Amino acid sequence: MDKARLNDDQLIEKIRAKKRELGSQLIILTHHYQRKAIVGLGDFVGDSFELARKAAADRECRYIVFCGVHFMAESAAVLAKPHQVVQIPDEEAGCWMADMADSETVKSAFEQLESLAGKGSTIPVVYMNSDAGLKAFCGDHGGLVCTSSNAEKALKWAFGKGEKVLFFPDRHLGHNTGHDLGLAPEEMVVWSPDKPFGGNDPDALRRARLVLWDGYCLVHSRFTCEHIEEKRAEFPGAKIIVHPECTREVVAMADASGSTSRIEKFVREAPAGSTIIIGTEINFIERLASEYPDKKVLDLHRSLCPNMFKINLGKLSDTLENLGEMNVVRVDEEIKASARVALDRMLALV
Ligand code: 13P
Ligand code: SF4
Repeated sequence: MDKARLNDDQLIEKIRAKKRELGSQLIILTHHYQRKAIVGLGDFVGDSFELARKAAADRECRYIVFCGVHFMAESAAVLAKPHQVVQIPDEEAGCWMADMADSETVKSAFEQLESLAGKGSTIPVVYMNSDAGLKAFCGDHGGLVCTSSNAEKALKWAFGKGEKVLFFPDRHLGHNTGHDLGLAPEEMVVWSPDKPFGGNDPDALRRARLVLWDGYCLVHSRFTCEHIEEKRAEFPGAKIIVHPECTREVVAMADASGSTSRIEKFVREAPAGSTIIIGTEINFIERLASEYPDKKVLDLHRSLCPNMFKINLGKLSDTLENLGEMNVVRVDEEIKASARVALDRMLALV
């Protein structure tokens, strides 16, 4: 069959045939933001924590094809067994937020904080949305990785080890979690990576408990309080749930917030006939609307993640035709070992 001429139905059939041929040798992991057709072909759909756990748990398969963004596939490669190969259908599927922090600037921030507060004072906590080098930094400096579904546990763990936490790269997830843990606004400061002491007064930094890297997600920081006001006026009985990558103001106005799987559960458990308005990625919301036709599932505002959208049926099919070869996710062994320490600390959180 000429690949250029295959339509979606033919590509789906080709992918299914490959899956039948490979059986338990292959596992396709898909994030909730993937296109509906990709989710339909996956063996497992989940939030970034569940996908990491799944990658760590599977011992049998040989090939893990990760339909998500690069940092997720990279984490799977860190957690995979030595005989397993992790591939991503499009290597260009990155994450804007993950690109907002790099090892050199984070190291410099950490050293500046330690110079003010003393060695061992600061525990680095990195959001999953980051490259493996930053996870390795946390593994080497007594810190850990977190996702939106376990950020509260991760911060509690970190505050049990040091007086301050340097949280990167998502300032909003950090702020929302710090608020939920009862930190006062003056105990949280934002660190601008291009300024000395992150643009803060050294005394304010000495007092701060949670130092928030000035990174954010462009898909989620687009939602505003006005969007919530407008939707509440239009749908008075509706429940509004947003992802914690949204700003503190938006999360405070919503009825609930949580990871993508928490959002899925919220919709699943809502009574039939109810209206649920969601502040997160649009492909996910549209899939939920089609999966729960007995409920009205609407977006707070249309916001698409172009990175997640890069993966399509053609690229998935190509990857499956080139297992073990195409777009293999490779991580330097030294970085892998240290990143694994930080990921394992997250997986061990109870
Ligand atoms: P989840 O961990 O909630 O799936 O979120 C990942 C993400 O990138 C959200 O933008
Ligand atoms: Fe990254 Fe935002 Fe896309 Fe999530 S939605 S993958 S944080 S750019």
